[in-house]
Amino acid sequence: MFKVAIRDPKKCMDCGSCDLILACPAGRVGDTKNCVGCGACYLACPYEAIYMVDADRVKYVSIVVNGEKFNVPDKITVLNALEFIGFKISSFPGDGDIYAPCRVGGCWSCAVIIDGSIKPSCITPVKDGMIIETNLPENYIPKRLVHGWMGHPVGGVGTPWWIKGRGYVEAAVFACGCNLRCPQCQNWTTTYCGYEISYTPREAALIMTDTRRTYNVNRMAISGGECTLNRLWLTQYIAELKKLNQDDKARFHVDTNATILTKDYIDDLIEAGMTDIGPDLKGIKVETFMNITGINDRSLAEKYLKTSWNAFKYLVDKYLGKVFIGVGIPYNKDLISLEEIAKIGEEIYKICPEVQVCVLDYRPEFRRRNISRPRFHEMVKVWEILKSTGLKTVICQTERGHIGPYEAKPRF
Ligand code: SF4
Ligand code: SF4
Ligand code: FES
Repeated sequence: MFKVAIRDPKKCMDCGSCDLILACPAGRVGDTKNCVGCGACYLACPYEAIYMVDADRVKYVSIVVNGEKFNVPDKITVLNALEFIGFKISSFPGDGDIYAPCRVGGCWSCAVIIDGSIKPSCITPVKDGMIIETNLPENYIPKRLVHGWMGHPVGGVGTPWWIKGRGYVEAAVFACGCNLRCPQCQNWTTTYCGYEISYTPREAALIMTDTRRTYNVNRMAISGGECTLNRLWLTQYIAELKKLNQDDKARFHVDTNATILTKDYIDDLIEAGMTDIGPDLKGIKVETFMNITGINDRSLAEKYLKTSWNAFKYLVDKYLGKVFIGVGIPYNKDLISLEEIAKIGEEIYKICPEVQVCVLDYRPEFRRRNISRPRFHEMVKVWEILKSTGLKTVICQTERGHIGPYEAKPRF
């Protein structure tokens, strides 16, 4: 059964986000007549004012996929049409025929050739007579949406603690689209953005190199959304960046939820030139991970969580000393217990006592506005718990700035 989006006028706050960040294929969110049921508005609305309801498609159109003719319902996306004719769509790379993790047009992992142009299938409406090729040519140059090039004064979890808080620490850019659905997403206008220009790796690397010069920094970071979703794009982007920045001081930093970061992907990134990485470990219990990330499919959540811990372990085992590794963990009393924080600390300690651990104080944002930002003394407690596990380098983001790793007793 296909869906259309309905806007609930009682819940809609007229915030304008769906017009500003989405590339609604209907042209206007709430236009049920032209809605193709992509679901991007449903994912992006911070007030949960959009419902997806079942809706029959009465008309059919004819399309050609990989040389074969099919009749598919009208007013659906190309991705849904491909699923309708038997393609398996997956949320983990390699688990299906087409990997479609963000579903808002941000990552272009789901890109196929549509009437001769490469386009994201998840937000492209199907049309009568459309010709679709799902096999991209070998020499194909990937694209994806990235935005927000800026000088960053704090950096991310993969930024060494000793350079934080000294003016601009790196140039940063944010990749649109994410595979997670965190209700308290701090960067949701990037996570659900489908409305920006798509860039090739070379184009994005040229802008980043200019941004580095503008802010007079040596570090170049990419975060998100989730920057790893489009693997070909990210590895080419890092390689292009390295070609453009061949001095010894240049650092290439990736901040990631690490949920799809397999060993071979990590090898590819390091071969391309990545020098710094900040994987996030969003819990140790799958229930915690599901609550924090909004992933309701338990087996997918287990796979994501396992992959992120394995990625961290592999990075330490194979690349410690060659690559800077900073691990991120979340804290908010409503999302994760202090016991679980201690358990995470113990696990990280077993893998590597020296690694930088950065605790992020999760704040009310996006759809989870009913939590409070952890107070300074709560973050001190978290810091003390992690230090007591034997970890050498624990830093905590707090409402008063970062607690550093070597403070004997943080000031209250
Ligand atoms: S994003 Fe949601 S609340 Fe904001 S204008 Fe659109 S429907 Fe309304
Ligand atoms: S974003 Fe997608 S689901 Fe929402 S109104 Fe537009 S076409 Fe329909
Ligand atoms: S899944 Fe289609 S652009 Fe990300």
